[in-house]
Amino acid sequence: MTDSATTRRGLIGRALSLLGLGAFASAGGFAALRSGLLGSPAAAATATPSATEGPFYPAPSMRMADVDNDLVKVMGLIEEAGGEVIALKGRVLDAAGAPRAGLRVEIWQCDVNGKYMHPGDRRDVEYDTGFQGFGHDITGADGSYSFRTIKPTVYPGRTPHIHVKLIDGERELLTTQFYLADHPGNACDRLFNRMSDAEKARVTMVFTNGAAGPETMVDIIA
Ligand SMILES: [Fe+2]
Repeated sequence: MTDSATTRRGLIGRALSLLGLGAFASAGGFAALRSGLLGSPAAAATATPSATEGPFYPAPSMRMADVDNDLVKVMGLIEEAGGEVIALKGRVLDAAGAPRAGLRVEIWQCDVNGKYMHPGDRRDVEYDTGFQGFGHDITGADGSYSFRTIKPTVYPGRTPHIHVKLIDGERELLTTQFYLADHPGNACDRLFNRMSDAEKARVTMVFTNGAAGPETMVDIIA
């Protein structure tokens, strides 16, 4: 640390002591100050916003036997799902940025034709049986999760989205939805526009060119 940084830290520490916040200063509060109160990425601390589960969360009886984290490949089938294959990755972190290991991350979404694997989706559209429709992963020691799935498609009345649920044992921690960056449908989507800009950024998928195609990293803060 530079002398000026040390001095600055000392001054801030004394100021916090005067305010009765000495413990805060010594317990990692400086990192929070740097990232929040002092200017830079305040969005880093934004919790992942919750969103409605919607009508098509597949109950266990509706799911395929295969519920792994590769939704493009259904066990026993040769042909893979239609659609643009993507890698969806990220970490589950607590508000302080610490990884949350051993949590169950579930995703579900409609297929390339905009059809959900759910008997409640009664539209006359054939379901792509090569698409798993639902899958889960368990977060690693570093909080990481990953899925191989398809880029979400247009579903009547909604902008493209992937549903996400976070579960700790039997306890549901969060239900939310991930969106495509800059998709024209976002502008008129009621659920998307209910969020603040920081919340939108937290659940927006921005793609880069990964080793196996488009890849996006979305951390879940919960
Ligand atoms: Fe949906």
